[in-house]
Formats: sequence, C-alpha cells, structure tokens
Amino acid sequence: MNADFARQLLDKHGSPLFAYDLEVVKQRAQTLHAALPEGSRLYYSFKANPLPAIASELRAHGVRAEITSDGELAAAKHAGFTDGIVFGGPGKSERLIATMLENGVTHFSCESFTDATRLSQMAVKAGVQITVMLRVNPQQAPDARLAMSGVESQFGFDEALLLAEGAAERLKLPNLTLNGVHVYFGTQVASVEALAKNTQCALDTAVRVANAVGFECDVINAGGGFPWPYASEATGSDLAGLREALEAVWRSSPLFGKAQLCFESGRYLCAGSGTLLTTVLDVKKAGSKTFVVLDTGIHHLGGMSGLGRIPRSAITLLNLTAQREGEMVADVVGPLCSPLDSLARGQKMPPVEVGDVLAVPNVGAYGLTASLLGFLSHATPVEAAYRGSEVIETWSFQCWHNPNRAV
Ligand SMILES: Cc1ncc(COP(=O)(O)O)c(C=O)c1O
Repeated sequence: MNADFARQLLDKHGSPLFAYDLEVVKQRAQTLHAALPEGSRLYYSFKANPLPAIASELRAHGVRAEITSDGELAAAKHAGFTDGIVFGGPGKSERLIATMLENGVTHFSCESFTDATRLSQMAVKAGVQITVMLRVNPQQAPDARLAMSGVESQFGFDEALLLAEGAAERLKLPNLTLNGVHVYFGTQVASVEALAKNTQCALDTAVRVANAVGFECDVINAGGGFPWPYASEATGSDLAGLREALEAVWRSSPLFGKAQLCFESGRYLCAGSGTLLTTVLDVKKAGSKTFVVLDTGIHHLGGMSGLGRIPRSAITLLNLTAQREGEMVADVVGPLCSPLDSLARGQKMPPVEVGDVLAVPNVGAYGLTASLLGFLSHATPVEAAYRGSEVIETWSFQCWHNPNRAV
C-alpha cells in the first residue's frame, strides 16, 4: 500500500493498524461470482472478518451473510443485511437460537440430531417456522489443507447416521422443515480440480441424504474453501477454468434445475484487501541470533498459528520507511511476554531499524479476528477501511458488543 497514506493512518490512529482496501473486496466478489455457475448464490462467512465496511461492500455486490454467533449477527445487521441470513456452526445454545429467531433469522445449518431437536423446540417456543439444511460430513476425504469434513470431526452429521434406519423419524420435528444439505469440506482448497471434485462430492452427498431422509432438497450449500495466501506477498489463486468445471459438475447432478446451488467464502473475498501496519520497536542480538521486535504479534495476527494450530507459512514484511541494501536474517517477534509470540523465524529480509514501519499484506481474513486479542491485554489496533485515499470507516474491535466503542 502507498507509504504516505500508511503513515497518515498511523499518525492519526497509532501503530499497529489494520487497513482494508474496499476496492479489492469489490473485485474479489466480482471475480468469485464470475467463477461460479450461473444462478449460484454466494455467502460471506463473517468469521473471516466481521468488519461492517467489508461486509456491506460484499452485500452491495450480491453476497449474502453466513453467520455463526450473536456478534456476527450484530455485524451483519450493522452492514445492512436484513434477510436471507443463514446461521450455522456446532453447539448452538438456546440463547443463541432465541437471539437469531428474535432477529428474523429462520434459516439454519444443522449439525446433529440434538441440534435439530433444540432448533425445533426453540422455533415452537417462538411460534415461528424454520428451514434447515442438514450439514453432512460425507464419508469421502476431501482435497483441502485444513480438512473439516470427510475426516472424523465435530462438524455436521456423520453421513452414515443419516443413511441409517430411523434418521428420517428423528428429523420429523415440529416447526422445522428440512430443505437442504450443507457440506463444507475445509479451507484453502488449492486447485480448480479439487474444488470441482469437492462440489461433485457435495452434490452426490445431498442426493443420497435427501433420498434416505425423505425430503425435497431445495438448497445445496456446497461450501467452498476458495484459497488465498495468508500474510505473504504471493499473488492470489487463479480461478481460471473454475466456472466451466463447476458448471459441468452442476449440470450433471439430478439436483440441477430443481435446487438452489450455494457456495460460501471468507478468505477469498477479503484476505487480499487487508494490510497490517506495524512499527519496529527494537532490533537486538542474542548470541548468534537477531530479533526484530514489533508492536504487533500473535495477539493481532495468526494467533491460531502461534499455538501451532495452523501450519505457518512464510510471512512478508514490506518496509515502507526505507528500502535498504543487503540482507538480514532475524526472528520476528511481538511484544508479548511469551516465546510463542513469534511471527517468523529465520526470516531473510532487507535490514530494518528501530522506528521503521513495516506492512504485512494479505491479512484481511483471519487476521485480527482469529488472534489472541485478550492475551496480555494490549490495546486493540484500529481497523480502517478505505477506498483510494479516502478512509470510509474506522473501528475498534469490541464495537460489536458495544457500539459506543466505535472510534
Ligand atoms: C462452515 C464454514 N463455512 C465457511 C468457512 C469459511 O472458509 P474460508 O474463509 O476458507 O472461505 C468456514 C471456515 O472455517 C467454515 O467453517
């Protein structure tokens, strides 16, 4: 991003800071829509980044809301989503379901027999009718870097349970209409072939399950997992040929012409829009090692990878202050009192000095929201959404639960 603009943002709001380019969000929405079969519906997975400016940009380009919490509901409403919201995720509490129903959310992705029963009971209590997609964990293993279905996981109904005798009876529940199937295989699906194969598998699963349980499959949410680099400068994924591949799969399904085909995406839509701006606080030696200490760390970025939950890939640190000759090898760490607070080990980069402003690209998804914000109680970085050189909106993260915290 432009160095002068970055400096202006830091002068006004302090360092570190997340900046999101809304023009990039718009382009990704347009590109992904164009890569899906005609008539497909695209949902935005708020978990990737609930910032209202990003969500409302996506809404303006025909993307719907897929949410998993009351905070995401607040963000979706703030972003102007009023209908067509789908609520999903494991372990839905009565309180959460009641909140959704009170707010007019009546379409759910359902994860288990217990989940279905609880949804039905809460719908009866609220006096509303709900529609439910069964989230299914198919027996087939997926092509995904972080697989969430096709493996033994906490997500969805094990397909075998739905194909077994008695499932249909257990799912005949008051105020609840089964109308679809949801399959989410996992994230960072690396190729067009894998995306097409996963979609084929989702469609086949939907047909098997709808036949076995005995309902009309009006909606098939085939997931997605559309990939994007994380915190590195690598260019985004090439979706060339995806539309043709998905069209072929879709047209050969018995559901074609009868059901609404849907996809959901988080990172593809917003990862590329985000840059983390950070300042070098210290450069120090320890034996043979050099440590670059930043004012950001796993409490703002990659908190889940800090705990070893996600394979860590190389991070890019672009120096916006100076382009210096030469190369240094350093461990890049944050200000937390924990050796886990490491953004890169043995990172080769042009030399940096105290006070330099560095930029980490491609952090618009699973950046701040997927980090250990509470750990060591540092202030939360401001998030700024911009278009060109105009700041459209600035936020502090806690504002979902307390709108007065908007900055
Ligand atoms: C059910 C479900 N849908 C959508 C997503 C969004 O994935 P991505 O951001 O990779 O598109 C996730 C991510 O974990 C998910 O669990």
